[in-house]
Amino acid sequence: MLEEIKLKSLNALVEGLSQEELIWLNGYMAGLVKSSQSEVKSIPSVAEKITILFGTETGNSKKLATAFAAKLRKIGLTAKLSSMDQYKLSDLEKEEILLVIISTHGEGEPPAAAKKFYDHLQNNQLNLSKLKYSVLALGDTAYPLFCKAGEDIDVKLSGFGAVSLHALQKCDADYEQSANEWFDLIVEKLTLKQSAEIKLPSVSTSRQRKVYEGKINSKVNLNGNGSLKETFHIEIEAGELQYEPDDSIGIIPENPVATVRSIINLTGVNGLETIFLKDQEISIEESLNEKLNIFFLAERVVKKYAAIVNQEIPSIRMDLLDLIKIYPPKNAVQFKEILIVLEPIAPRLYSISSSLTAHTGEVHITVARNCFQLDQELRHGLCSNYLSQFEEGTSIKFYVHRNLQFKLPSADKDIIMIGPGTGVAPFRAFIEDRANTGATGKSWLFFGDQHFTTDFLYQTEWQGYLASGVLTKMNVAFSRDQQEKIYVQHKMLYHAVELYDWLMNGAYVFVCGAKNPMSLDVEIALLKILETEGSLSAEEAQNFLNQLSAENRYVKDVY
Ligand SMILES: Cc1cc2nc3c(=O)[nH]c(=O)nc-3n(C[C@H](O)[C@H](O)[C@H](O)COP(=O)(O)OP(=O)(O)OC[C@H]3O[C@@H](n4cnc5c(N)ncnc54)[C@H](O)[C@@H]3O)c2cc1C
Ligand SMILES: Cc1cc2nc3c(=O)[nH]c(=O)nc-3n(C[C@H](O)[C@H](O)[C@H](O)COP(=O)(O)O)c2cc1C
Repeated sequence: MLEEIKLKSLNALVEGLSQEELIWLNGYMAGLVKSSQSEVKSIPSVAEKITILFGTETGNSKKLATAFAAKLRKIGLTAKLSSMDQYKLSDLEKEEILLVIISTHGEGEPPAAAKKFYDHLQNNQLNLSKLKYSVLALGDTAYPLFCKAGEDIDVKLSGFGAVSLHALQKCDADYEQSANEWFDLIVEKLTLKQSAEIKLPSVSTSRQRKVYEGKINSKVNLNGNGSLKETFHIEIEAGELQYEPDDSIGIIPENPVATVRSIINLTGVNGLETIFLKDQEISIEESLNEKLNIFFLAERVVKKYAAIVNQEIPSIRMDLLDLIKIYPPKNAVQFKEILIVLEPIAPRLYSISSSLTAHTGEVHITVARNCFQLDQELRHGLCSNYLSQFEEGTSIKFYVHRNLQFKLPSADKDIIMIGPGTGVAPFRAFIEDRANTGATGKSWLFFGDQHFTTDFLYQTEWQGYLASGVLTKMNVAFSRDQQEKIYVQHKMLYHAVELYDWLMNGAYVFVCGAKNPMSLDVEIALLKILETEGSLSAEEAQNFLNQLSAENRYVKDVY
C-alpha cells in the first residue's frame, strides 16, 4: 500500500517509540484521516472556470477581489484574479464564471484602470451567452451617480446574454459587510449549497461614515504678493482624529448665501417651506444652502429642467441661477418641481498635508482657489472658494478618505515624490511622518510652480528638511522664471541617471497633482528614462512601469 521509500521513512519514525507514544501516534493519525475526509467533503463541485476582475482607483475593489480569491482557494476552488487593465479582452468570450468588482470615480466614471475594459463593453457586440456573472459595484451615495460604472457593466453583460448569478450589488462608502455577504451568496450558488438566511438589499445599508466636526485654527495664503494664484494652508483641529499621512479629507461645501437668496427672490418660493430630501424634511432655503448642487448642473439635470419649464434649452451644463434668469419657471410651484430633480452637492477631496505624529489632533490641507472665466467673468470653484472664505475659529465638517494604493511605504524604503502645485500636499505629510518616525529610507522631492519668489509652497520647511537630512534631495522647476517653460518632467529628465539608479535600488515613485497634462508628461518622462538609462524598448519600458504599478511602487493621486 505504501511506496517503499515512504514505508522506510515510517519505520524509521516509529522505531524506538514507547508504547505510550505509539498509542498517541495512532490517535493522531486517526485525527488526520478524519479531518482530511471532512475537507474532501467540503470541496465544492464547481467544474467551471472562475475569474475575478477588479477595477479600482483607490484600492478598495482590489482589496476585496484579493480577499475573495484567497477565500475561494481556502475552500478548494481556484479563481483567476486580474486587474481590468491587465486583463486580455479577447478572453472575455471564453470565460465561464465572471465576478466583477468595480468602483465609480470622477462624475460617474469607471476608474482609470478600468477604462479599457469598460470601453470594450461599450463599443463592441459580444456573445456572452455561456457566461455566468455577478457585479459588485463600489460607490458612495454622497455622489449623484451612485455606482454608475458597476451599473453600466451589469447592463452590458446582461445585454450580451450572460446569465446573472446574483443581481447587481451596490455598496456605499462603508462597503465591507455587504461585499462579504454578496460573496458568500455567490459561493453558495456556485457550490450548490442552499442559501443560508442572508438577504441582501440591493443597496447596502451601511453605517454612516465618521464625520468630524473640526475647528479652523489657522488659514494662511502660501502664495506671495504678485502671484497669480491663491493657495491656502488650512489647519483644522478635531477630537479623536485618526488618519494616515497618505489619506485625504472629504468636504461637502455649502452654496454661497447670496446665490441662494437670488434664487429664492427670483422664483418667489418661500424659503421656510419644507420639502423631503432622502426622506428628511428640510426647509427649501437650507436645502439650497447645504444639500443641492446649484452650479454647473449636469446635462441630464438641464434636460429635466427644460421638460419642467416646457422650454427648449440647449443641452449644456449651466448654473441654476443662470437657467432661472434665462428660462424662468412659471411660478413657485413649478420651481418646487425643479428642486426635486436637482442632485446632491458632491464631496471634494483634499490631500492631507500633515502627519499626526507632528500635529496631534490636527489635520492640515493645502487648497488652491480654483478660478475660471465664464463669458469674460472671473468665477471660482465651489469648494475651494468656500474653504478660502473661512474665518479662523469657525467650525467645519469633514471625513477621512482612505486610499489603499497611495501608501507611504515602510521607513527603510526610498521614495521619489513628484508633486507640483498642490500636488506637494501629501509629500509634506510624508516628510513630517518620516521626520518623526526616524525613517532610514532616502527621499527625493520634485516640486514645481510658476515663480520661485511667490509660489514656492512650504519653501522654508523643505529647506529645513534638506538641512536636517530628512529630505535627501530636492529639485524644483519654476515654469515662468525664464523664457522657456521648465516643468518637473524636465528636471526628472535632467537627473535621469540618478533617478534610474534610485528606481533600480527599489525606490517607490509617487505622483500627485494635476492629472492633465502633468501626470501624463511625468509618465512620458519616466518611460524615456527607462528606455535611455535601462536600454529598454518602448514596450519593455511600458511593461516595467506596469509592473511597478502592480507592485504599488508607481502610484498616482491625480485630479
Ligand atoms: C484625491 C484627490 C486629492 C485632491 N487634493 C487636492 C489638494 O490637495 N488641493 C487642492 O487644491 N485640490 C485637491 N483636489 C481637487 C479638489 O478636490 C477639487 O476638485 C478642487 O478644489 C476644485 O473644486 P471646486 O469645488 O473648487 O471647483 P468646482 O466647482 O468643482 O469647479 C471645478 C471646475 O469645473 C468647471 N466649472 C465649474 N462651474 C462651472 C460653470 N458654471 N461653467 C463652466 N465651468 C464650470 C471649471 O472648469 C472649474 O474649474 C483633489 C482631488 C482629488 C480627487
Ligand atoms: C474623486 C472621487 C469621485 C467619486 N465619484 C463617485 C461617483 O460618481 N459615484 C459613486 O458612486 N462613487 C464615487 N466615488 C466613491 C468611490 O467609488 C468609493 O470611494 C469606492 O469605495 C472606491 O473604490 P476603489 O478604491 O476600488 O476605487 C468617488 C470617489 C472619489 C475619491
